[in-house]
Amino acid sequence: MLKLTDVTAAYTPGAMVLRGITLSLEPNSISAVVGSNGAGKTTMLRAILGQMPFIGGAISMAGRQLVGRRPHEVVSAGIRAVPEGRGTFPSLTVEENLDLGGYTLSADQRQRNKEREFARFPILKDRRGQRAGMLSGGEQQMLAIGRAMMADPRLLLLDEPSQGLAPIIVDQIFALFAQLRSENVTILLVEQDVGRALEVSDRAFVLEKGSIVRSDSAAVLLHDPSIREAFLGIG
Ligand SMILES: Nc1ncnc2c1ncn2[C@@H]1O[C@H](COP(=O)(O)OP(=O)(O)OP(=O)(O)O)[C@@H](O)[C@H]1O
Ligand SMILES: [Mg+2]
Repeated sequence: MLKLTDVTAAYTPGAMVLRGITLSLEPNSISAVVGSNGAGKTTMLRAILGQMPFIGGAISMAGRQLVGRRPHEVVSAGIRAVPEGRGTFPSLTVEENLDLGGYTLSADQRQRNKEREFARFPILKDRRGQRAGMLSGGEQQMLAIGRAMMADPRLLLLDEPSQGLAPIIVDQIFALFAQLRSENVTILLVEQDVGRALEVSDRAFVLEKGSIVRSDSAAVLLHDPSIREAFLGIG
């Protein structure tokens, strides 16, 4: 599915933030990227999305090269992102936000996908005419995911989806990822809540100072003493 080969990236020339990332995601899997603040997690997602000014190495999606392509070409390769802070349009309604997620679709297809997302998130159907800015944090996260799903992505990138949400809402959002995987969506999840991320994921990568220092099944990492000590505060 997605393959990164020796990817380097910098915001300013010479100041490397990603230092040779190589990884590959299995189709229909959930992969977590964990690492401390400033490790380069968001930067890695930006690199995949074609949003880094200085980048080297290769990124491919289903065998198609992405590095050097423009962000809209990344979208047409079937990649969608739910950015940190959600990125919905607060002054637009719930329904308008969903419509924007499906802007490339025919009107019929857009309508079908919108009904699918309303079925997935009944609360969004109830609030379809309300401005997105009036939604609770959990509802906004659902809207952000619904909007990304409108385009039938093959790969969904999520940056800190649990941020600022109550634990019970986080449980709902994380349960949804397993459901999306069963709908043939591959998920790359960047998450501070390392325990929950590892529980829901198939594989995980530990990012440290722009390099991947561990890559293993999520279950193995979840029970690894050094991971538990570093990220879960448990020895
Ligand atoms: N727009 C930017 N311009 C310059 N440097 C940046 C920019 N954004 C991030 N950086 C730097 O790149 C490094 C990696 O940042 P990044 O945001 O990728 O980390 P992160 O792992 O997502 O951290 P967090 O857990 O805090 O979200 C940090 O040293 C950060 O200061
Ligand atoms: Mg980040």
